[in-house]
Formats: sequence, C-alpha cells, structure tokens
Amino acid sequence: MALKQHKDERIRFDQQVDNSRKFVFPFIEQTKRLGTNTKVLEIGCGEGGVLLPFAEAGCYCVGVDLNPLRIDLANDFLKKEVSAGKMQFVFQNVYDESFLEKYKHFFDLIILKDAIEHIPEQEKFIPYLKNFLKNEGQIFFGFPPWYMPFGGHQQVCQNKVASILPYYHILPKPLYKGILQMFGEPKPVIDELLEIKDTQISIERFEKIVVNNGMKILAKQPYLINPIYKYKFGLKPRKQLPFINHIPYVRNFLTTCVYYMVS
Ligand SMILES: C[S@@+](CC[C@H](N)C(=O)[O-])C[C@H]1O[C@@H](n2cnc3c(N)ncnc32)[C@H](O)[C@@H]1O
Repeated sequence: MALKQHKDERIRFDQQVDNSRKFVFPFIEQTKRLGTNTKVLEIGCGEGGVLLPFAEAGCYCVGVDLNPLRIDLANDFLKKEVSAGKMQFVFQNVYDESFLEKYKHFFDLIILKDAIEHIPEQEKFIPYLKNFLKNEGQIFFGFPPWYMPFGGHQQVCQNKVASILPYYHILPKPLYKGILQMFGEPKPVIDELLEIKDTQISIERFEKIVVNNGMKILAKQPYLINPIYKYKFGLKPRKQLPFINHIPYVRNFLTTCVYYMVS
C-alpha cells in the first residue's frame, strides 16, 4: 500500500518543509551559520520543500534533481521565492559537467537528505562534492542505514503486506525480487527497489568514505525513530539510545536514520 504522500505531492511538499524546519535546519545550524549570503545546494531536492526554511532565513538556494516532474512541482510550489530570485530549481544530473562548471566552489552548504542512498558509487561521489564547496563549506547528510527494518524503502510498495514487512530487503537479490513479484508489485516499483539495493549504504561504510577522503564529521545524530516517520506513520521521533550507537554493525539494524554534518 503506497503511503498518501506518494500519491499527493502537496502533502509530501508540506511534510518536507515541516521536517526541515523542525529537525534539519536546527541540526545544521549547530555547526554552520545560516543567513543572508549563505549559498545552499540541495542535491536530490525533489519538490524543494527541504530548502524553504533556508530561503526564509535569507539563504540563496539551488535545488537539483534528475526527475523533471519533481523539479516542475518545486517551481510551482515555490514560485514566489523563485521569481524573487531567492531560489532556483535545476533539472539535471548532479554529475553533469555543465553543472560543475556553473557552480564550482560556489556553495557554503550542501544538503543531501534521503538522497545519498539513491546515488551509485558513493566512494567517488562523496569526495566529488568538495568541488562545489567554498573553503569553509559543510555538507549535511541524512539517510536511512541499509540494514534498518525498512532500509529497502519497501514502504513504496503497493501491496500492504509488502509495504510493512521489515528486513526482507536484506535477502539475496533474486529472493528479494521473487518476493516483490509474488506480492504483485509492478515492474517500475521492483526496478526502483532493486536499484536502491545496489546503492545501499551503512553507517560504517559512510563514515569510512568520509574519513578516507580527509573529511571530518562535525556532528552526528542517529535516530531510533526517523523524524519523517511522524508524517509517514504517526510515530513520535526518538533519538537513538547512546549505548546502541556504540555497537558497530548491530546499530544499523536498529537505527532508522542518521544525520551528519561533515566538513
Ligand atoms: C528520496 S528523494 C529525496 C527528496 C528530498 N530530498 C526529501 O528529503 O524529501 C531522492 C531524490 O534524489 C534524486 N536523485 C538521485 N540521483 C540524483 C542525481 N545523480 N542527480 C540529481 N538528483 C538525483 C531523485 O530523483 C530523487 O528525487
């Protein structure tokens, strides 16, 4: 059963705005001053709602996404800010050379919220991000670790059981695909879920990539209950218990999302 925000773009946009205002913006503000003249890039911006609180704080915001429908929606929902020159939405792959030419060392902050787990070859992609940053620039990452109960994004499934069944995304690919087919999921949904299986990321692999590329973790907040689940499932957001955070590998199975600030 697809969730209502997968059907109603306006609901999804409003949830992005509210979640960003209450959780993402305050987390980023702990390490990065945000205000007039701060230049912010969101990669994988979708409908653009995450960026609205940043534009309201006076930042200049650019959102890039390779889904043209979502960029059209962003331009529509945020037309006031776009026509005032506070925001810009670009339909492009962040890997396109012309995007880099235009924005080389331009941004103070890059946001990747629920996006890094959709992008292949994170070992190349994470260091590539430095090209867009000014010297003192920082990057926000927020992602669900692969091994968490719904790390496969199976909530997008149309079949109710398939959408609420935890952990089966961890099974070997042919078995996972077979189960999705058995539940009658349409091919585009299966393809999307198998693609996410290929681009999966764990807490350990993410931190290894960051450290191996001379980047530094400035702040980290693991969640037992992802703040976005308030909208998706009506659950109260909860930070992860500190002792779980210290158990490598096991923590991935019990942590539904992690926020990081990286310099
Ligand atoms: C799950 S959505 C997240 C949307 C939004 N950031 C949020 O938190 O609601 C991930 C987005 O990343 C985009 N994306 C994936 N790879 C990309 C790439 N190489 N360049 C630009 N956008 C990309 C997808 O099109 C998708 O809209």
